[in-house]
Amino acid sequence: MKEEQENKGNKEKQEKIYVMGNWKMNKLPGDVLSFFDKLIPNLRKYINEKTKNGDIKLSTIKKLETIIAVPYIDMFYANLYANEEKRIKIAAQDVFYKNEGSYTGEISPMMLKSIDVNTSIVGHSERRAMGETGDIINKKIKALLDENMKVILCIGENAEDFKKENTKKVLKKELDEALKDISDKKEDIIVAYEPIWAIGTGESCSYDIAKDVIKYIKSEMIKKGFSDPKVVYGGSVNSENSTSYLETGVIDGFLIGTSSLNPNEFLKIYINSAKFLNK
Ligand code: 13P
Repeated sequence: MKEEQENKGNKEKQEKIYVMGNWKMNKLPGDVLSFFDKLIPNLRKYINEKTKNGDIKLSTIKKLETIIAVPYIDMFYANLYANEEKRIKIAAQDVFYKNEGSYTGEISPMMLKSIDVNTSIVGHSERRAMGETGDIINKKIKALLDENMKVILCIGENAEDFKKENTKKVLKKELDEALKDISDKKEDIIVAYEPIWAIGTGESCSYDIAKDVIKYIKSEMIKKGFSDPKVVYGGSVNSENSTSYLETGVIDGFLIGTSSLNPNEFLKIYINSAKFLNK
């Protein structure tokens, strides 16, 4: 009963749910067209029908923030669709920490901003596995905030640390490193808790563990001066489990890998989130 009240309290406070996709290194530019040509008409049909018949409030739809992080090569086409359907925003999956210069192969915050991409993922475990350090992640976050851009900071423990119950220790270290000396614009940072063992495995984190860990992350963020910390969950999210994560009352949305590649599955997660918020 106490738990129920607690969750209800959190839900009433919930201003936004982030439904975010990370395509990783998938989809050629041509695939971008077929993805959005399916997603956008169905999204609009759902919103028009449900808001017209009163099933879903327009204010609920406005609380859903839909962001898809695409490969750089897909941004041109993805942006055309995002310009046409303003409910969808395009993000980068990574960024460099300088704005210009001799950095072969890199893309800067300023470059992204110039094409209206105002958000980037930083510190994804797949990039950390390629050698990205806490210090580099910290520099990238600062570079994005300097350009008034938004950050999706990924943190998460590996299977070994999970088994050894080191999760919170690992997350604290990752947060300390990533957020070092960041004094303002904290509201532009969303944290994504992505346990590495749950990514792409179909083995999603249990709702109770996700709830406990995300509560912990939020408490650490509050200690660092965040007034209203936003934390999403990522790791084998799909249309079957998404509502249960939201029902924990502490999760502000999702960072979705595999299920974001399929427009129907992505839309289902969006609809689940709308229904949850609308209750
Ligand atoms: P999956 O949804 O495929 O597990 O990937 C999660 C992820 O890494 C999102 O950034």
